[in-house]
Amino acid sequence: MKTTSIHGMWSSRMAFILAATGSAVGLGNIWRFPYITSENGGGAFVLVYLACILLMGLPLMLSEIMIGRRGRMSPVNSLKNLATESGSAKAWGGVGLIGIAAGFLILSFYSVVAGWTLYYAFHFFTQLFGASGIADPSATFAELLANPGRMTFWHGVFMVLTVGVVAMGVENGLERAVRVLMPLLFLLLLILLVYAATATDAFGQAVVFLFRPDFSRLDAGVVMTAMGQAFFTLSLGMGSIMTYGAYLSSQSSIPRVGLTVALADTGVALIAGLAIFPIVIAYGLSPEGGGPGLIFESLPLAFADMPFGIVYGLMFFLLLSVAAWTSSISLLEPGTAFFVEATRFSRRSVALVLAAVAWLAGLVSVLSLNVWQEVNVIGERNFMESAEYVANDIMLPLAGLFIAIFAGWVLSKTVSREELGERFPAWVYTGWLWLVRVATPLLILIVFAGKLGWF
Ligand code: TRP
Repeated sequence: MKTTSIHGMWSSRMAFILAATGSAVGLGNIWRFPYITSENGGGAFVLVYLACILLMGLPLMLSEIMIGRRGRMSPVNSLKNLATESGSAKAWGGVGLIGIAAGFLILSFYSVVAGWTLYYAFHFFTQLFGASGIADPSATFAELLANPGRMTFWHGVFMVLTVGVVAMGVENGLERAVRVLMPLLFLLLLILLVYAATATDAFGQAVVFLFRPDFSRLDAGVVMTAMGQAFFTLSLGMGSIMTYGAYLSSQSSIPRVGLTVALADTGVALIAGLAIFPIVIAYGLSPEGGGPGLIFESLPLAFADMPFGIVYGLMFFLLLSVAAWTSSISLLEPGTAFFVEATRFSRRSVALVLAAVAWLAGLVSVLSLNVWQEVNVIGERNFMESAEYVANDIMLPLAGLFIAIFAGWVLSKTVSREELGERFPAWVYTGWLWLVRVATPLLILIVFAGKLGWF
């Protein structure tokens, strides 16, 4: 059993928790969660999402950390080596490849949206020095989407930030970045929550929208979206968490760190909802049917209206950029680790090439918002929406299905028991085992079957 990885190691359990939480907490929590909750009717969607976190997310989180730590390599090689050790086919490495492909696709559009947040942060920054504010947020957002050059520029800036960290390596890049950025993120989030709870009188309405389920709103599509969101927000199904697990000390308790990360991520999503919906409602906008522009179109209204609104606006969009940054490094890291293992090139060159390719791929998403707006790829979805759909709702759960089967059936019980640790009551292990062996795979298959219209 290897105790270190060739790519580097986290210096402590806390460093892993910060990095994995940094990966999990991102645009998925603060941008995507509120807007898809808004599109899918509120409470009932949130309930299904929480059930997915508990029944699929948490067991898979533990499985990914376990596989990564046992294999100590990129997802492809960890899966391949562990499969060979347990007498199974090397082809399991292919699951890692699906993950890396999904990560690539996600990084390409993720960076475009992160570019929007950088642009908004910059916009508020210039307002500090007297530039004029955002008078009509919908028009400002529409103008941004209509401007490929501007989006390409900020998408590029964000990609440079991402590759800068990854190129510096695990200890000097990833760990150093999250140690500074994560505390900053929590601080900013708390300030905004306090504002939303005290300065608007719509907090109660937001709570009702988020937590009172209206089950008539549920159908197979909504459930599939909730499942995709659960995977996306916890960074599962592409090897981000698996790769981070490879750098975790053998001494740390996997259930403990895994639970911490899942709780922190879910907490941030709910807090973001509770900070954002009161503002949306208080400014007379409907909490329903928000779309990707939700926070970009509603929050600037509030910021323009409140004392020190420019400072709040700047803080909010900085917060979002920081959250996106600590996530995007985890999208780039698995592919980087894999190509470092597979080629003779240095981490720096590999990271640079991969980021350049993801940046180029992102240009298709940029153009799908304006020039190719009318071009539908899958159903009514333009290219960016299709990439998001294929990666989040199909590839992540599919890879998740295989990861659950791998952890439950391919890895020997001796290995999984040893990795999860002995210091827990027996039901923790048994519970995890039944979830990954039966419940998680079955639920994923049922959701897919339901979506395909089989029942
Ligand atoms: N979880 C991040 C977010 O919510 C995004 C992310 C990072 C991700 N790494 C991932 C999503 C791996 C899926 C898979 O913004």
